[in-house]
Amino acid sequence: MSSQDIPEENLPAAQDADEHAPGTVAVADETNPFADPGLPPHEHRIQDIDERAASRSERTVAFLFTLSMLATAGFIASYVTIPSDKSIYVFPIGHVSAMNFALGLTLGVALFSIGAGAVHWARTLMSDVEIIDERHPIAAEPEVRAKVMADFKQGAKESALGRRKLIRNTMFGALALFPLSGVVLLRDLGPLPGTKLRHTLWSKGKLLVNMNTNEPLRPSDVAVGSLTFAKPEGLEEHDEDFQKEIAKAALMIVRLQPENIKDKQELEWSHEGIVAYSKICTHVGCPISLYEQQTHHVLCPCHQSTFDLSDGARVIFGPAGHALPQLRIGVNDEGYLEALGDFEEPVGPAFWERG
Ligand code: FES
Repeated sequence: MSSQDIPEENLPAAQDADEHAPGTVAVADETNPFADPGLPPHEHRIQDIDERAASRSERTVAFLFTLSMLATAGFIASYVTIPSDKSIYVFPIGHVSAMNFALGLTLGVALFSIGAGAVHWARTLMSDVEIIDERHPIAAEPEVRAKVMADFKQGAKESALGRRKLIRNTMFGALALFPLSGVVLLRDLGPLPGTKLRHTLWSKGKLLVNMNTNEPLRPSDVAVGSLTFAKPEGLEEHDEDFQKEIAKAALMIVRLQPENIKDKQELEWSHEGIVAYSKICTHVGCPISLYEQQTHHVLCPCHQSTFDLSDGARVIFGPAGHALPQLRIGVNDEGYLEALGDFEEPVGPAFWERG
């Protein structure tokens, strides 16, 4: 509907009554220097001349804000009720986590509804004035700033928050409820590890088992200059907790000439020059895998932290914060290498120690 089709008595009040009234046609004059006289006549929206259309828009906006509230409630309910290991088939993506799908869907609907409600509100019910805003220097004059403030207050008034209570209340409800979806995510920070990170599967008498052959190690299996990876006896790859436990318990076994071992404690905790150190880098936990036979250095491939196995595995290069923990070992009555206890300090990255 164009302005020409609107009965004159339905047109909004003249500009000198309220220059920003809904539906006002911008006219270039001294009081409105931004209006462009070259523009075609302004077309009024149906909501400006038909109160029933305005009410319909109001209900649409309220519906969208209410939908956002329901979607946020759905987000929280999905997080609490859907098991994290449940999957569903979604065409054309395939099988996806049911919880992730529900969280993404409800979060998307909640955000979209708030945005769509705000846009529909602005397009159909807020002030409908066409102006051309000239570019101006970034540092505004005090008078301009005062005008901006006045315009801001005018805009707040025109949004009719006080008059359109349904919109105001549902909008506040949607905005107040939506942040709760972030609060429930805090659950992912827990549970606290307690002292779980301070202990590994190693204990007195546990045999050192070769990770490749799955056979218990004898001292004769460890040659000078070789690097062997070991795990505690009883820990099998098909165990449910294998990854969790091996991430703490994995060992590097190296045989040095006892006279080459500089650290006194390292020598005491070794067996005939065989030393057992945690394989987990103390920087951010990569598995160490490179051994330099001549220098007795082991190197972490992730960020090149280098540890000297002949000197208590102290850090000689790279970002690691402290030496690799050593496991005290011996030989049992049957001639197999065994642990003489657990590690005496936490293995892995420094932040684990806070457990
Ligand atoms: S994880 Fe080993 S150096 Fe970074």
